[in-house]
Amino acid sequence: MGILDDIRARAGKFKKTICLPEALDERTLTAAAGCAKLDFGPVVLVGEADKIRTAAKNCGADISRAAIRDPDSDPEYEHIVSTLVELRQAKGMTPEKAREALKDGIMYAAMLVKLGLVDGYVSGAVHSTADTLRPALQVIKAQKGVKTVSAFFMMVLPESSPYQKIQPVLFYADSGLVQNPSPEELADIAIGTAHSWTALIGTKPVVAMLSHSTKGSAKHPDVDKVLAALAIVRQTAPDLEADGEFQADAALIAEIGAKKAPGSAVPGRANILIFPDLDAGNIAYKLTERLAGATAIGPLISGMAKPVNDLSRGCKAEDIIDAVAVTCCQAAASG
Ligand SMILES: CC(C)(COP(=O)(O)OP(=O)(O)OC[C@H]1O[C@@H](n2cnc3c(N)ncnc32)[C@H](O)[C@@H]1OP(=O)(O)O)[C@@H](O)C(=O)NCCC(=O)NCCS
Repeated sequence: MGILDDIRARAGKFKKTICLPEALDERTLTAAAGCAKLDFGPVVLVGEADKIRTAAKNCGADISRAAIRDPDSDPEYEHIVSTLVELRQAKGMTPEKAREALKDGIMYAAMLVKLGLVDGYVSGAVHSTADTLRPALQVIKAQKGVKTVSAFFMMVLPESSPYQKIQPVLFYADSGLVQNPSPEELADIAIGTAHSWTALIGTKPVVAMLSHSTKGSAKHPDVDKVLAALAIVRQTAPDLEADGEFQADAALIAEIGAKKAPGSAVPGRANILIFPDLDAGNIAYKLTERLAGATAIGPLISGMAKPVNDLSRGCKAEDIIDAVAVTCCQAAASG
């Protein structure tokens, strides 16, 4: 069974309620029908009920088992408005501005998550990463003890990859969100991604902090940043196995690690690669996808107080179902 089949099978058991705010999008409606067929928990669609039903009919999606949350008739609407005002008052939020903000289905979904009316949301088939995540960053916020929310890609390696037999799945972070992380942010990225590994894969996370240097082979402030982040990880999460700084080959290949980083237990066992910045993380995942033929799933989000996940605008309905399944597993892990 592939990792995605496994995640889907587990999602079916948790019966979590996941919101899909882009409810007029054909792929989203097809995915809502697919989630019901797989016997996931209920999917909640946000928007005008008539329009959603017509759109579903037009694309042949059976959404009879999905719930529709229409802000115009939602009995919780006023409570949602007043809670949003309360949460964002210091940022100038007023009841009028809150009503305006809630016309955005993604902000509505974020508030449903915040209030515990759903367990998480998945969006991004139509909206950009920034528009998908900003409402969540504003109202759901990072989980306790983590300041920085980050994005990772689950990289599923093909059988043709020489590394596939050692690690069939790797997480790359941050490959989609935090542009120029400070040491504190880089440490949060490592710890948050390790939590996601535990929630989704279930085996022991082993973190490699990557750089252009291995164990002092180069001296540069960029290397110092990675080492400072590693020190914070060790202090904040002493049980997490993490080491660095490593060049990618030293982290992945035990024989190279033995030469360049003697004494480290991480080389050849790393399953989480933490990149020094978004450029490196984003470029690396795309190169692995295109040159090694890996399947890249994401961007998936770590460190949010409740789970939220983004989609690529080129996604298919099956990708949305996978993201819903991931969100269910994250929701189950976060209680
Ligand atoms: C996600 C993103 C849009 C947020 O930036 P923004 O729209 O400028 O929003 P702001 O900086 O005003 O932040 C909004 C809120 O989220 C919080 N926030 C932003 N990034 C955060 C993070 N990584 N973790 C936790 N909180 C964060 C801010 O503190 C702010 O909170 P506040 O309003 O309560 O003060 C931005 O980080 C971004 O564009 N990242 C790159 C995404 C991208 O293009 N990826 C492409 C590769 S796939």
